[in-house]
Order: sequence, then C-alpha cells, then structure tokens
Amino acid sequence: MNHFLDIHKTDTDQLRAMIDGARRMKAARGDRPRGAPDDQQPLAGRMVALIFEKPSTRTRVSFDLGVRQMGGQTMVLSGKEMQLGHGETIADTARVLSRYVDLIMIRTFEEATLLEMAEHATVPVINGLTNRTHPCQIMADVMTYEEHRGPIAGRKVVWCGDGNNVCASFLHAAGQFGFDFTFAGPPTLDPEGDFILYARDKGSRVHIERDPVAAVQGADLVVTDTWVSMHDPQSARERRHNQLRAYQVNEALMAQAKADALFMHCLPAHRDDEVTSAVMDGPHSVVFDEAENRLHAQKAVMRWCLGL
Ligand code: CP
Ligand code: NVA
Repeated sequence: MNHFLDIHKTDTDQLRAMIDGARRMKAARGDRPRGAPDDQQPLAGRMVALIFEKPSTRTRVSFDLGVRQMGGQTMVLSGKEMQLGHGETIADTARVLSRYVDLIMIRTFEEATLLEMAEHATVPVINGLTNRTHPCQIMADVMTYEEHRGPIAGRKVVWCGDGNNVCASFLHAAGQFGFDFTFAGPPTLDPEGDFILYARDKGSRVHIERDPVAAVQGADLVVTDTWVSMHDPQSARERRHNQLRAYQVNEALMAQAKADALFMHCLPAHRDDEVTSAVMDGPHSVVFDEAENRLHAQKAVMRWCLGL
C-alpha cells in the first residue's frame, strides 16, 4: 500500500520521481484556467476523502483542486462533524471509508491517529499535517527551491524559529534529498532528536545554532514558520513570542545569507512576528510559489499513492 505518511518513509528515488512528475504536470498545464482539466485524467472515476481536524486554507484548496484537475471527485469532511469526533474508533472509520473512497487525506493532531488510519485503511492514506510532521509541504518546498535554483542537494538550508512539525519534515527531506540543515532557535524549542539523528545518519550535516546571525552565514535558503502552531496551547503564546523574537527573519538577517538566497514560509504567516513584511514581499521570497506548488506536488503524491 502506497501510503504517504512521511518523507523518511518513502524511497528517495520515488520522492525524486514525484518532484519531477509534479514539475512536468505543472508545465503541461501551461496557463490554462485553474478549473480546467489536465490533458490526462488519471483520477477519472476516483473519489478522495479530505478529512480536517484542524483549520486549513492551502491544504484544503490545493488537494480539492488537484483531484478535480485530474478528473476525480472529493469529499471534504470535518473531524468534528464525523462520528470520529464522537467516539467511533479511528480503525473503524478507516475500514468504513475504505469501502467508499479510493484515497484518504487526513490533517489531524496526534501522529498516532494518522498511523492508526493507515494501519486499518485498505486504501492509501496521505498525511496532511500532524503535530509532528507536514510532508506534503516540504515536497512543495523542495520543488520550489529547485524551480528557482536547481538541485537542492548540497545546499545550506537554515531554519529560524520553532523546531516544529514543518521543521521536522525539512530534516527528513535533508536526509532524503542530501542538503545541509542548520536550526537556529532557543534550546527549549529544538526539533526532536530523532529527526536530527535521521538526517545525520543519511549524511546530511545538521547544525544547531543559538545565534541567528551566525546560523544564516552562507545560507542558500532561509525558512521560518509561525511561533505558535495549531496544536500549541494559546497559554504558551506569550512565552513563545519572548523566546523566539530574536529569531525573526527580517531584512538585516536576510542580508547575512548568500546574495541569491531564497526565503520560504509554509504560510499562514504572522507578519512582523516570525517574518517582516519587507522579507515576505521582498526579492528573496518565494512564499506564494510554495503555496502554488502544494497543488502540483500533491497531484504527484496522489498519483504515486494510486499507482497512476
Ligand atoms: N501550509 C499549510 O499547510 O497551510 P494550511 O494550514 O492553510 O493548509
Ligand atoms: N506549524 C504550523 C504549520 C501550519 C501549516 C502548524 O502546525 O500550525
């Protein structure tokens, strides 16, 4: 079963084929209207369930649009409105949905929910974000980097801020795609050790830096994300802001990276917290290309899941 659960759980050559396939599909669409079908309709007759237990703009719209462009249909389901939110087990939900749909994408809280869904589903399951990882985002980010600057292998990626779910998937990608990764943030918000060990075991040079200016020296790509993720308690907001303020990505910090460095953010951004508007809207930023590439990358992921 081709579940897409995490970047480190899929073979490198298959990830590479997905990125290349996404770029081919994007090029083949040219500038046709968003709602117009692709020339190829590999999802014709297929039904895809999109389950959200957390809010979403990009994941929801890009998956829905991607399925439609490839000729399939979607059902967008909110966890709260399903029996899942009222005591039915994840395993039973997986078994039932597998009788109705061909593919399940789920955005949830605990990673265990995703894994249980995958264990009991008889159709492929895609991780649309958990508290721990966000693999679809990083597929789009690798695609975006390579569109602008060529192969990401051997490049220096610097993460500024919270060592969160998006950071974790970047560490998986560092191992799989062969780039170096520097984390710049406070010790209380370091990424989990197993993500770091994975990347190092695969040969990536991973550094932990407390000084953001030192971290971004020679960076090819600077990345940040919100200081308070959807699963973080609001009560932690002020503490996190205080801890992370020194890691804001602003023009002075970007000036320390390579002259042609890119800036990425998975969005939604909190302008003038983790990143200034000057950087978001400035010459290094490719944040809206990343958002668009969610569409193309996930179309390739769905085709891979379904063997199409
Ligand atoms: N980047 C991302 O996953 O955005 P949404 O939360 O809007 O889906
Ligand atoms: N780290 C963020 C990413 C949102 C796409 C969160 O989990 O809320």
